[in-house]
Amino acid sequence: MFRHSQLESVKASIAHPAHAALPLHARIQRAVRQLIVDGALGPGKPLPASRALASSLGVSRDTVEAAYARLHAEGFIERRVGSGSFVAPMPEFTPGRRLSRRDALLRSQAPKLSLRGEAMFRSGGVREMLLPRPFAHGVPDTRFFPLPLWDRLERQLRKEVGAQALLHGDPQGAEPLRRAIADYVNLERGARATAERVLVLTSSQQALSLCAQVLLDPGDRIVVEDPAYYGARKAFDAAGLECLPVRVDRQGLLVERIAAEPRKARAVFLTPSHQFPTGATLALDRRLALIEWAARQQAWIIEDDYDSEFHYAGKPTACVQGLDPHDRTIYIGTFTKSLFPGLRIGYAVLPPQLVEPMTVARTLMDGHTASMAQLTLARFMEGGHFGAHVRLMRGVYAERLDLLARLVGRHLAGLVEARIPGGGLQMPCVLAPGLSERAAIEAARGAGIALLGLSALHAAGDGEAGFLMGFAAYTPQEIEAAVRRLAAALRAAARS
Ligand SMILES: Cc1ncc(COP(=O)(O)O)c(C=O)c1O
Repeated sequence: MFRHSQLESVKASIAHPAHAALPLHARIQRAVRQLIVDGALGPGKPLPASRALASSLGVSRDTVEAAYARLHAEGFIERRVGSGSFVAPMPEFTPGRRLSRRDALLRSQAPKLSLRGEAMFRSGGVREMLLPRPFAHGVPDTRFFPLPLWDRLERQLRKEVGAQALLHGDPQGAEPLRRAIADYVNLERGARATAERVLVLTSSQQALSLCAQVLLDPGDRIVVEDPAYYGARKAFDAAGLECLPVRVDRQGLLVERIAAEPRKARAVFLTPSHQFPTGATLALDRRLALIEWAARQQAWIIEDDYDSEFHYAGKPTACVQGLDPHDRTIYIGTFTKSLFPGLRIGYAVLPPQLVEPMTVARTLMDGHTASMAQLTLARFMEGGHFGAHVRLMRGVYAERLDLLARLVGRHLAGLVEARIPGGGLQMPCVLAPGLSERAAIEAARGAGIALLGLSALHAAGDGEAGFLMGFAAYTPQEIEAAVRRLAAALRAAARS
């Protein structure tokens, strides 16, 4: 017989929504197999008689029989006439012997990864919340997106393009979209782009991985802002690069420290328009000094301009790429914040000499970005809808930021100090002395609130304790209710 906990585990596995599409006997077979693979049922252990298990699970005996028959066929169990079913003995692995399906499965539970694979896995990757809740950072409000208009444009295009859109597309990106992106970044971001220099990608994350792999070798040094965007650090770590953290102050990256650094770097990564997470804008004299440094060192500047569409006090400063006469800057943009994250379209504006190598390298990652989405986005931009949507959302987000800052001032006074940013989708807050960041984040989580801690974004984990509060994706009512819950949770944490 199964122990009580084993029976409960089989029942839970059968009822799990992820298995709902499987027939009942397959669910039972998987659940029992898992017990064997996990070692909870060792070799030689008897399985419950099919009649008994059927009665415990409330299913027919035929269903359990079908499950046992499959386990037997796979080599997981033995069936002895007259005495029942038993977990099969586990043969030792002999090099050269073909693995049984069960051995292969057992081995696949603890895979031997490459050192790079191990590092990527241990980093935890960049997992986004599927259903964001206050105050998850960096999430736009997708409820305002004009989906019917998007659908209409897509239908029109499907009629015009026909079966052509079902074939492979240009790995550099659809020409109309590259043209629309070049026009946009030239006009709005002061870039120096042409359609020929734009590479359409799946995300800025992909652009970061591509830069790390195509421009640098494992062991090469790259300067990163301190504190830094975790997605960039993880991409560089995964490529085996050595990150050299350089401090950020209220005017952005301390560029003079890069020049003074005795260990020479081959690239610098930064978020100059709206530093992640501090919100600082890189001062013009530092931009110019950075460009000169890169030209002297023949180093690359990797400029992540991830959310500059949302600037609330006048126009954002022009991007570094547009100021760089030496073609050392790779400008990275994304539609994740300006439109919607599920779109999965980002891009890079490249120095001319990098267009070919980067395009070829991207074909090894994913071939190209989905054609229909690219063409629809191009049409959306050409029709002025992108500009209109960004203008609308800029107004919505500015009001939400203003509301959040007022509510934090009113309800969290004495607990945190808000650092109101000039743009973006999130507001950094610094904790008052006495309350630890970990305790604050834990307390918030208990109240159903997501906060990203600031200190872990510092290279030495030693920055000011605090957190980022995303505000863009939440209605005024949601923001107000969540601030009240957060205030109660933080006050309780401060007392304990
Ligand atoms: C600084 C920064 N860069 C890039 C991204 C992600 O953009 P994408 O979805 O295009 O990878 C984010 C998202 O939070 C970000 O904060």
